Order: sequence, then structure tokens, then C-alpha cells
Amino acid sequence: MIVPGSESQVLAARVSRKTERELCRVEYDRFPDGEGIVRIDGVVEDEDVAVVASTPTDRSLVQLHQVLDALEKADSVTLVIPYMGYSRQDKRFEDGQPVSARVVARTTSATVARLNEIYTVNLHEEGVLDWFTDVETRDLDASTVLADDLVGDELVLAPDTGAKGLAEKVAGEAGCSWDYLEKTRLSGDEVEVKPKNLSVEDRDAVVVDDMIATGSTMSETLDVLEEQKPASVSLRCIHPVLAKNALTKLYRSGVEEIRATDTIETGLSTLSVADVVAEAIS
Ligand code: R5P
Repeated sequence: MIVPGSESQVLAARVSRKTERELCRVEYDRFPDGEGIVRIDGVVEDEDVAVVASTPTDRSLVQLHQVLDALEKADSVTLVIPYMGYSRQDKRFEDGQPVSARVVARTTSATVARLNEIYTVNLHEEGVLDWFTDVETRDLDASTVLADDLVGDELVLAPDTGAKGLAEKVAGEAGCSWDYLEKTRLSGDEVEVKPKNLSVEDRDAVVVDDMIATGSTMSETLDVLEEQKPASVSLRCIHPVLAKNALTKLYRSGVEEIRATDTIETGLSTLSVADVVAEAIS
């Protein structure tokens, strides 16, 4: 049985088809006072279930906890959190703040007794996995999904050194060359940002990152690349968080195309991590 989280209904359906496991019907409803309630259709007793539930919002996190609690009679529960909200708050940035990723990990793993395994997808910091308690964990790598339909003559770029590994994997999968942007200080008040080794002039540049949140990283990258006269620039990411006016910023910066996966289900999620998830839970 595959149990869909409120924000992962498409991905759960795809995983259900690929694994040939029944897709469970879950009702996500609300009481008049605004509190949420879930109902899992049919009693899931003595069954191995896999819950596929991203938690990009507070509401979806509470709904996930409710689903896990409702599954107390399941024989075993495997939990896939394709996009784990709060995972970037993995340290105390200022005194008086919580380590939110730790809170989420601890409370999620404590919600259901028969939790077998927890899978995440391309977590920003893998160390977050250590905060889930008494459960096997694994971060799945969906990098190569971003290589879909690249033909080999594109230039794959990382917007910063943190995304170098991702760019290398995407390029390797598609047979493309790859590079990353590097900032060079020219003088006290002058910096130059450009691809470290390769020229983008007249190339189809594909910039890849683990996520687009506010879009600042990508829009600055687009501005920098524009000066270097590429034939086109498109963007790809695993997690399309797309906070605030991220999309407006990116389209105003002249991006050709943006593609993302379905770890967060958006209008840009034309790529899927379903194969990666299905293989892991099979
Ligand atoms: C940074 O370390 C990440 O890999 C992303 O580059 C970053 O989270 C993107 O955020 P934003 O879209 O807000 O610039």
C-alpha cells in the first residue's frame, strides 16, 4: 500500500504504478475551527505501507504526523519525505533559536512505533538524518533525473561550489561538459563572477542546483551569464521551493526554461523522482 501525503499525491500515484502497490485513499479535511483531520480509507492492519509525503508547509507536516499516527496498526511503515521542510534550519543561526530540523526529525520518527526506514531525497545537509531516532535512514540521490533530454552539447553549470557535485553528475549522465561559477576579486570594490574554466558564449547553458527557494542564487547567475552571451540559459533543480516572487525574478532575468522534479509538486515539476523512490522502497 502506498499512502500519499497531502502535498505528494502525484508522486505517490507514480510510485504506486511503478511498484504495483495499491494507492491508498486518504481524505484531508478540516474542522470548522480550522484544525486539520485526516482519514485513511479502509483499516490498514497487518500491512506493510509506504508513506510518500513531502512537507513543504507546516500544514503538510502536521498532516504527515496525523497519517503516521493513523497507521498505528500497520505491520510496518516506510516513510519517504521527498522534500523535508525545515531541513535547512540545521543549526542555531542566532542565540535563542531552535535547531528546527532536529525538532522535525525527532517528532516525526517518534510518531509511529513500527517505522522501518525513512528516505529523504537530496537533503541539503545529510547530517539531518542523524536526528531521526531508532530508524534506518537514507538520503536518495535523484541528481541524474535532471539530465532528462539533454543531448550532450549543453554546458552544465553549478551556480556555486556547493552545487559542483550535482553539476558533475548531471553532466556525466548526459555526456555534457560542466563547470561552476567562481567569484574573483579584481580590486577592493570590484568582483568578477564567471564560469571557472569554460566559456558560455554561444552555448546552451543549463544551470543546476539542489533547490530554488527565493530565486536569488539563480537570478544573479542569470544576470552574470547574460553578459557572456550564451545561446540560451535554462535552469533545473531538484526541489522547486519557489518562495515569494522567485518565478517573477527568474523570468525577468530572461530564463529560457525552468524544470524541476516532483519532490514539490508545482507547475514546473516536469521531472520525476518516482523511479528513484520506487527502487528504494521495492
Ligand atoms: C544553497 O546552498 C543552495 O544550494 C541553493 O543555492 C539555495 O538554497 C537557493 O536559494 P535561493 O533560491 O533563495 O537563492
